[in-house]
Amino acid sequence: MDLPFDGAISRYFKKDAPKEVRKVIEEAGKDDILSKTYPYREEMKRKDYEARMEQLQLQLVRMHYDLKAKGKRLIVVFEGRDAAGKGGTIEAMRLNLNPRVARIVALSKPTEREAGQWYFQRYIDQLPAAGEISLFDRSWYNRAIVEPVFGFCNLEQKAKFFRQVPDFEKMIVDEGIVLVKLWLEVDRAEQLKRFLDREGDPLKQWKLSQIDIDGLAKWKEYSAAIAETMEKTHFSHAPWTVILSDDKLRARIAAIQTVLNAMEFPGKDAGVIGTVDGKICGGPGLIG
Ligand code: ADP
Ligand code: AMP
Ligand code: MLT
Repeated sequence: MDLPFDGAISRYFKKDAPKEVRKVIEEAGKDDILSKTYPYREEMKRKDYEARMEQLQLQLVRMHYDLKAKGKRLIVVFEGRDAAGKGGTIEAMRLNLNPRVARIVALSKPTEREAGQWYFQRYIDQLPAAGEISLFDRSWYNRAIVEPVFGFCNLEQKAKFFRQVPDFEKMIVDEGIVLVKLWLEVDRAEQLKRFLDREGDPLKQWKLSQIDIDGLAKWKEYSAAIAETMEKTHFSHAPWTVILSDDKLRARIAAIQTVLNAMEFPGKDAGVIGTVDGKICGGPGLIG
């Protein structure tokens, strides 16, 4: 079978990737975390992860039960750089939840009709009803990041987004819906390594898109768009939680802890949920 992108990532790695980024990947050991500024040198041990995850899953199940019983509503927005681990984190969160209750919302690019609507309109259709959780795999924040970086929207549309998003999220929160906004961040070398893995693994190739490939050369543009987004949309009514996700396992734990902390439910056990690791999880100040 031909690769969907015919070796484009490897070619980028060999020819166009910045030398210092290539060097980090070439010199890394198998278990190293590539980013030198990441607070850990190695991934969490699988066994520790699984034990921790089992406790958190039991708390999630209780949270879910209460949400259904009381008709509460929850939105979790998963944003982050390409290959940051949004998909895996969503899967971990949804593992033991009823898929009708905890729905993944992963919209493709707007259709022609949607492009002629108010930008937020198609997302409003996906907001949770009583007893539901909407897990947004990417979200309305496309208009702040991917779209401007690729020129899919113009500056006026982007400016309008930044004008409207505070009120949009305020209305959601005023309505009594719990809104959790997660930003998963990865380092440049780690991102490239994950793309290379995906290219080389027939079971992972579906995760690659043309945007990922064209985005390789746009790291700096992304960084600027992310910084602007954090600066303009970290509201007291809807703050961002940033998770440094070079270690996917630690990141998943921090994400689930953050969601559990945002909800009240009978049987909630602060001791079991534990303290979020402030070295990898916190406000936008963690990126930079
Ligand atoms: P993912 O990484 O989520 O699997 P892609 O890498 O293909 O998806 O695209 C990234 C995001 O950019 C998606 O949310 C997609 O809907 C959006 N996107 C892609 N093309 C366009 C476009 N022409 N206009 C607006 N948004 C787009
Ligand atoms: P320009 O030529 O800079 O006016 O931008 C052309 C297109 O690229 C417009 O649709 C912009 O939305 C988009 N664009 C490029 N870079 C950026 C950026 N840093 N911020 C916002 N939009 C951008
Ligand atoms: C993931 O690893 O699931 C990513 O965050 C999605 C992507 O590659 O864009």
